[in-house]
Amino acid sequence: MPLLEVDRLTKSFGGIRAVSGVSFAIEQGELLGIMGPNGSGKTTVFNLIAGALTADAGSIRLHGEEIGGLSPHRICGKGVARTFQFVRPFPGLSTLDNVRVGLLYGRSPGRTDARKLLTLVGLDAKAHTRAADLTLVERKRLELARALATSPDLLLLDEFMAGLNPAETAGAMDLIRTLVAQGMTVLMVEHIVWALMKLSRRILVLSAGEKIAEGPPEAVAADSVVLDAYLGSDPGSWIRAA
Ligand SMILES: Nc1ncnc2c1ncn2[C@@H]1O[C@H](COP(=O)(O)OP(=O)(O)O)[C@@H](O)[C@H]1O
Ligand SMILES: [Mg+2]
Repeated sequence: MPLLEVDRLTKSFGGIRAVSGVSFAIEQGELLGIMGPNGSGKTTVFNLIAGALTADAGSIRLHGEEIGGLSPHRICGKGVARTFQFVRPFPGLSTLDNVRVGLLYGRSPGRTDARKLLTLVGLDAKAHTRAADLTLVERKRLELARALATSPDLLLLDEFMAGLNPAETAGAMDLIRTLVAQGMTVLMVEHIVWALMKLSRRILVLSAGEKIAEGPPEAVAADSVVLDAYLGSDPGSWIRAA
């Protein structure tokens, strides 16, 4: 049984079909990448899975159990954690205390160690720095530690690498590889396509709310339907080395 199974998921905002009949599944321990032009519905898919939004139609099953329509807190309790495209830690709290808040919110308070999580994401030296004083890349790493603090089975990463410089992007890729090597299942939305293609064995492509392709990175990168959806961007940049 897949860890997550999304079936014909549909969501409109007024007249806009943000997500239209999208189906996919993720196996335990897999990293599945989602790409698509701006406004193609990627974040909406995340919001539906994490419970920030309720679908108009379709189902979302985690370990075979329907989670669509549950509150974000219940869905977190069932093992889904997410980072936000626009990071928002508690600015006045220290890095360490921000992670502790994540621990309290999570499934197994006391089981996971906040300091260990800071070490995992490379922020141990910043434990007592106020979140407001962190750089963008540090705030993203904190956001990830907070998500991991809830002991998720499934981690949703929304544009984790957006705004990072090449060295920071390479570091973020290493960190994601480490998580997957430790057995984490990751669903990842990323605008930096070459990074997504390096990390994923399978990629799903959204355009205007619909799934237009799904497959290995090489097949997706050569798909004329995908290239059309990205018209105006430079596909050569997709395969640039990290
Ligand atoms: N809360 C909302 N209210 C109204 N429209 C929204 C809302 N969220 C997203 N949309 C619209 O839905 C479409 C998909 O948005 P989104 O999922 O954020 O795309 P992506 O993450 O792929 O850039 C866009 O047209 C966007 O303007
Ligand atoms: Mg988005």
